[in-house]
Amino acid sequence: MTWFMVAVVVVVAAAGLLRWRRPAWYWLTFGVILATLRVLVRYGSVMDACGLTVMPSRWRLALARVTNRPVPESRPPRILRLRPTRTGLVLRLKLRPGQDAFDVAAATDRLRHSFGMYGVTSREVRSGVVEVRMTGYDVLKRVQMPAKLDRAPMRVPVALREDGSVHYRDYRAVPHGLTLGATESGKSVYQRNLVAGLASHDVALVGIDCKQGVELFPLARRFSALADNPDTALELLEALVSHMEEVYQLIRTEQRISVAVPDAEIAADIWDLPEDIRPVPVVVLVDEVAELALFATKEEEKRRDRIITALVRLAQLGRAAGIYLEICGQRFGSELGKGITMLRAQLTGRTAHRVNDETSANMAFGDISPDAVLAAIQIPAETRGVAIAGDSTGGWHRIRAPHTSLRQAVNICNKHADRTPDLPALAPYRPAAAALPSARVPLSKTAPATA
Ligand SMILES: Nc1ncnc2c1ncn2[C@@H]1O[C@H](COP(=O)(O)OP(=O)(O)OP(=O)(O)O)[C@@H](O)[C@H]1O
Ligand SMILES: [Mg+2]
Repeated sequence: MTWFMVAVVVVVAAAGLLRWRRPAWYWLTFGVILATLRVLVRYGSVMDACGLTVMPSRWRLALARVTNRPVPESRPPRILRLRPTRTGLVLRLKLRPGQDAFDVAAATDRLRHSFGMYGVTSREVRSGVVEVRMTGYDVLKRVQMPAKLDRAPMRVPVALREDGSVHYRDYRAVPHGLTLGATESGKSVYQRNLVAGLASHDVALVGIDCKQGVELFPLARRFSALADNPDTALELLEALVSHMEEVYQLIRTEQRISVAVPDAEIAADIWDLPEDIRPVPVVVLVDEVAELALFATKEEEKRRDRIITALVRLAQLGRAAGIYLEICGQRFGSELGKGITMLRAQLTGRTAHRVNDETSANMAFGDISPDAVLAAIQIPAETRGVAIAGDSTGGWHRIRAPHTSLRQAVNICNKHADRTPDLPALAPYRPAAAALPSARVPLSKTAPATA
């Protein structure tokens, strides 16, 4: 008996310690079983208390009356499926007549407390079916990406969402993106994750980093072209515009439309072209975009106008030529001059890290969702890397990218350096191999070799 007591105390102590120090492990060992039992046992009473039950239907009442049985109870939504995941539980519910997805969405906070979970979100899967995703612990505190991730061309897993699912940056669904955030909020780490994710894809990376190249130049071996000042950036962007025009010429020559060509085979973008002649897609990463739009002299103003014009042209026409923009900055509004709001309107994918004022958040989400604006302002300063990301359906999620160090990103880029395509139009901006060792030396002194 004493041994049994000792074993129980040890297990309880181990569970407590895990819960405190390693919530992810606690969830996988004890949490998932306890939470599943709690949900199944308390389901009826919690749904009743949260106002998610409906009165029995008329025919059930009539049947009870005819057969002289007690009056049937109110019924909660039917559980279609309960699926434990790495971070929580996913409950699929069939709503009763008279209920709607908004009822469940409005009760998520009450469900969170009642089931003792960390977070609860809900979404409508199809008419009458709602998926409730619950997380057992704060998954954004220490981001761990799942080992098994979906792989598709131009779709990169870049962060974890607060409901435990993976946030993908899908360039074919959302071609251009804008990432905003105050200084030290995690924009460059997010962009570094994107580069690390894209490194293993068949894609040309082009970088413009006006912070003297400190963020992108260490990753140079995977980049087909890089610029670290506005002058080079202008030449590079204009070269990209001519590359885009060449790609369109290629698509034109491949179209050869005649009555015999089936509709599905008419090429309108690079993905419709046969694989052997398809030009490689290009992702253009711009860090500290405001540097490109600021000017002090007349010459700089002319340069600025040409840069913004080139960016607007790439944003408007680039998608079908496989050119995708990923722009990062602290603010991106009309105070940066003409053309900026026009450019912003083309950047569909919005991500906002912590911002210090509502106007900055409005630059990302003002025209999309007022709730997202509020959520972006409320991100605490100490949780760097947490961001609000809009999704293609118009909704938004709280996300956090894993903390990939510069050293880890350099290793990934070097590993995939052989995938770096040569684009003839961008050849003059290809970082010279000779410059790389000097870029790596200070890095090994500053960044711990964690990978
Ligand atoms: N996802 C993350 N998880 C944990 N820590 C993070 C994350 N993202 C950023 N940080 C921390 O925040 C620091 C600043 O991040 P980062 O350099 O990306 O900020 P930034 O927004 O690019 O700032 P700036 O505007 O000054 O360039 C990083 O050094 C890192 O310590
Ligand atoms: Mg930065």
